[in-house]
Amino acid sequence: MDETRGRITRDGIRIYEAEDFAGMHAAGKLAAQILDEVADLVEPGVTTEALDAFIERRVTELGAISATIGYKGYKHASCISVNHVVCHGIPGSKVLKDGDILNIDVTVILDGWFGDTSRMYVAGALSRKAERLIQVTHDALFKGIEAVRPGATFGDIGHAIQSFVEANRMSVVRDFCGHGLGRVFHAPPNVLHYGRAGSGPVLEEGMFFTIEPMVNLGRPETKVLPDDWTAVTRDKSLSAQFEHSVGVTATGCEIFTLSPAGRFHPTWR
Ligand code: MF3
Ligand code: CO
Ligand code: CO
Repeated sequence: MDETRGRITRDGIRIYEAEDFAGMHAAGKLAAQILDEVADLVEPGVTTEALDAFIERRVTELGAISATIGYKGYKHASCISVNHVVCHGIPGSKVLKDGDILNIDVTVILDGWFGDTSRMYVAGALSRKAERLIQVTHDALFKGIEAVRPGATFGDIGHAIQSFVEANRMSVVRDFCGHGLGRVFHAPPNVLHYGRAGSGPVLEEGMFFTIEPMVNLGRPETKVLPDDWTAVTRDKSLSAQFEHSVGVTATGCEIFTLSPAGRFHPTWR
């Protein structure tokens, strides 16, 4: 791979070339396809490690590599975050029960390009308050995506998300953020899901990054459990997250991780 192509901005953000979008679309679509497929397995009685085993198998079968297995010692092909788990839930023997809501986050590497996406699922029946949380979190991601265009700033993205979430009397997690990606998993900038309009680095055509807001029904504070991965809400309130990988174009952005089956939105079923 030729690291001399493209350039790096003064904020340390890589600018990719027009031909690089194809690789990101392929990787992103593959990750999204796996999230489409796993939807059929989510139901009361299934364990999170069974869901992860399916994901790990499909990553391999589709000719990709898991970006998370071996990443900082992480051992799984997905993060599965149930109810008050904010992110980085470790798949295990936990059995899903009726009414549980969960985020499944998958990152794959295809031909050297990273595709990173997550979305929400429900085991069994969805409560009204969980439905509202999931809808607001989903819509918050798209408020952020709609703010993406050359000349806007990363603060504009954060502001769009935060103002929408808080208008709905929910809170934005501050302790985790989106990130640049491309031929690497995590690169500058930190994509904050809160902030002031006009603040932060200016967006340019050719930037690739994720937007992945985490929204809590209660307070925004989190803590990481002794396993050093699982992040939970301090007040035990329900939390939700959606994540897309995007690339900035001349007029706005392209979403790399669109669902091939149209299953991204929580009401698809
Ligand atoms: N996919 C997560 C993200 O959105 C990162 C998971 S890292 C892991 O950035 F090691 F926890 F898997
Ligand atoms: Co990410
Ligand atoms: Co992710």
